Amino acid sequence: MVPEPNFPARPDEFIGRNNQIEAFREVLAQGLLTGRTPSFAVLGDWGVGKSSLLLKYSAICSGQDYAILPVFFSVSTELADYKRFAEGLLDTFARALETSDSLTTRLRGELQKWKLSKLSIGGVSLNRQGPEFFLSSGTAILKHALHDAWRHFIRPAQLKGAIFFLDDLHNFFYPGAQGIALALRDQFQEFAIHGVNYSLCFSARSDYFSDIRSFAEPAVRFYDKVYLSSFTPQETDEYTAAVFGDSVQIRHVSSWLYEKTFGHPYFLAFVSRQLLSLAQGHVSEPERYWPAIFKRLEQEKFRSDLAHVTEREVQLLRDVANAPIEEIGPRELSNQYERKYFSRLTEKALLLRVGRGRYQLYHPLFRLFLKEG
Ligand SMILES: Nc1ncnc2c1ncn2[C@@H]1O[C@H](COP(=O)(O)OP(=O)(O)O)[C@@H](O)[C@H]1O
Ligand SMILES: [Mg+2]
Repeated sequence: MVPEPNFPARPDEFIGRNNQIEAFREVLAQGLLTGRTPSFAVLGDWGVGKSSLLLKYSAICSGQDYAILPVFFSVSTELADYKRFAEGLLDTFARALETSDSLTTRLRGELQKWKLSKLSIGGVSLNRQGPEFFLSSGTAILKHALHDAWRHFIRPAQLKGAIFFLDDLHNFFYPGAQGIALALRDQFQEFAIHGVNYSLCFSARSDYFSDIRSFAEPAVRFYDKVYLSSFTPQETDEYTAAVFGDSVQIRHVSSWLYEKTFGHPYFLAFVSRQLLSLAQGHVSEPERYWPAIFKRLEQEKFRSDLAHVTEREVQLLRDVANAPIEEIGPRELSNQYERKYFSRLTEKALLLRVGRGRYQLYHPLFRLFLKEG
């Protein structure tokens, strides 16, 4: 396997995560039994492997065991409202159906006509409408089109249902995370009530629910949740073996990689890729290559992290890096910063919120970079 830190792992090169895969298979099995697949949330921080896991899940559910149509939708920060979200999702759904092996030629022909009739509803000028309007019209679009597709395509194609994979749901924050989590829950609960087996599997940052827990319990309870963190030492062994082969030095290289990256999948992929190309098969002394590898990390990752950050925010990050302990509260820094700086840096995934009012840098290597710079 060639490490590609900037792309999600291919499902057939996917490493580890046995518990999370088991949890998902249980949800799928329950769906086959009852005709309603529970909705699912994957929570974890930047680079930890959420997209990779969602892609793995979609490969699993489309297999023969389950015959469920996966609809993979990356949620971008440009989504302005729920109506646009609904249209984008529907478009992706139609494309997923189109490329599914389950559709006969006749159904494929009908799908073309259906797309023309369903996907052209938008386009009216809606500029002066408020968010409630977009919510209700987006909900209505999805409801009608997806019920319709259930009867005309999903059932006739012998598919057992569909799962909508929404990757990075935290990017969709207008008119607010709680509003969206609730709207989605209402939407998908309605399908379940009518025996239509559509469900949701989204990924989001690990603190996604902490903002809404207090006043939207139903939106939180609706989802089965798995948390994703860095690889364990065993998973790191597995990863190292997949990249460097099963030779005797592998234990040594793997523990070196773990020491540097703490099993963080992005950094593991990055460092492995560099080591693979620098060491040219002689990986027995990885430490020799560390200065060159760290320099590349600076250039390709940490500098661009700081490119989107104001001077004041850089100052805050450096203060956090120079604090005696990893995890800090705003009051423990030598300089005082307003709360909004912490939330902005959390949104930019450079700070992690690890508890009520507690923060840390997203990775120890970033800390090292800030301390040195
Ligand atoms: N289970 C896995 N097996 C192999 N590589 C992985 C796995 N999970 C993550 N990676 C690697 O880590 C990097 C970051 O993963 P990604 O899924 O993009 O994280 P996220 O979506 O949480 O930001 C990917 O480039 C991939 O190479
Ligand atoms: Mg991702």
